[in-house]
Amino acid sequence: MRNVTQQNISDVVIAALSSDIPARNRQILENLIRHIHAFCIETKVTHAELIQACQFLVRAGHISDDARNEFILLSDILGIEVLVDMLDLTDGESESTVLGPFYRENPPVLPKGASIVQKSFEGSQSVRVSGTISDTSGRPIPGVIIDVWEDAPNGLYEQQDPEQPDYNLRGRFLTDEEGRYEFVGIRPAPYPIPYDGAAGELLNYMGHHPWRPGHIHFMIQKDGYQSLVSQIYDADTKYLDNDAVFAVKESLIGKLHKGPAGSDTDLVMEFDFKLKPKAAEIAVAAE
Ligand code: BEZ
Ligand code: FE
Repeated sequence: MRNVTQQNISDVVIAALSSDIPARNRQILENLIRHIHAFCIETKVTHAELIQACQFLVRAGHISDDARNEFILLSDILGIEVLVDMLDLTDGESESTVLGPFYRENPPVLPKGASIVQKSFEGSQSVRVSGTISDTSGRPIPGVIIDVWEDAPNGLYEQQDPEQPDYNLRGRFLTDEEGRYEFVGIRPAPYPIPYDGAAGELLNYMGHHPWRPGHIHFMIQKDGYQSLVSQIYDADTKYLDNDAVFAVKESLIGKLHKGPAGSDTDLVMEFDFKLKPKAAEIAVAAE
């Protein structure tokens, strides 16, 4: 095709897709091409702006490595990760929210009730977090694997901070026979997402701030159930109503109470989660 015009460019590029690519590739590419072309036309993108955007992506690539994924940050700042997450409709299970860029695989495996705090911080408040993991019909589930991670009071996750021990404020726990989990952490501090690279440039372009409310991350997994990636937000933290990455959900806000008399932590928080059985298990349960 030689006479490509504004009117036919999308059809022309889509016609270039091979007929034997997988159906999902075709769906993704067709929609992407149509929407990006429509965006360029509607916004009247200039050539200089296109080059600026490409250079911006090069900078995002240069600052990314195994420990830092600038592209996840960019998707978060634009509300894309939280939107994609919402497309998985909930059906009685707890709400999920963004994974973010700071998860690390294989955290220390710890017994129920253990502390994830390897280095104490002046002025931080300890909190005992506990709860029950059950299925969507309310039956507690034993043997659920729960990874938790949180930032230190200086607002940094351990991999961002050479002063913290490896895997500080991370742990993996199992629920007991009653589906109960429990660990000791610290009150999570609000923190700015990294803004010294392309993510910061985008925030400046938007005139938006980089702050996230204090939260504790959870990844909850058990064979036969849909894995849940979520966060609990401290009910008294700043930024609940203006999270830089739009990930707060009312159902994920938890209250940190003063520890009862005799408690070995400053604060306590009880928070339950529900997991959805995978389709095959739902069919078996219904028989
Ligand atoms: C986080 O909660 O760790 C996070 C989520 C999105 C962007 C940056 C950080
Ligand atoms: Fe976080």
